[in-house]
Amino acid sequence: MILTEIDHVAIAVNDLEQAINYYEEAFGAKVHHREVVESDGVEEALIKVADSYIQLTAATRADSPIAKHLTKRGEGLHHIGYRVDDCQAALDAMILAGATAIDKAPRPGSRGTTVAFMHPKGSLGTLIELVQE
Ligand code: CO
Repeated sequence: MILTEIDHVAIAVNDLEQAINYYEEAFGAKVHHREVVESDGVEEALIKVADSYIQLTAATRADSPIAKHLTKRGEGLHHIGYRVDDCQAALDAMILAGATAIDKAPRPGSRGTTVAFMHPKGSLGTLIELVQE
């Protein structure tokens, strides 16, 4: 089994502060990490749940993938991050199994991770992010 944990569940939100407030009020959640990923046009707030995260994700510019998702589908589940030991090996295995890579090679993600995104077409309608810590 190549997947070692669920790294994070990413939820696209319109207003990051409002989303954080909701998770604080509803669940007593605390933000573990916050980061702007300029290359992806996103700002994310990570809420730790055991060894996984809920990643509340907002757009920082109109042409970011999150902005497009929000326009098309509104707020909600955006992608699932699967933790792996070796991002390149996991990417190769997925492509062999018929998946479509968005990232042809692993690249830097938030928190100093190495990531690769796989298109929902070819992965049962789920946008998958492979995450190597
Ligand atoms: Co992610």
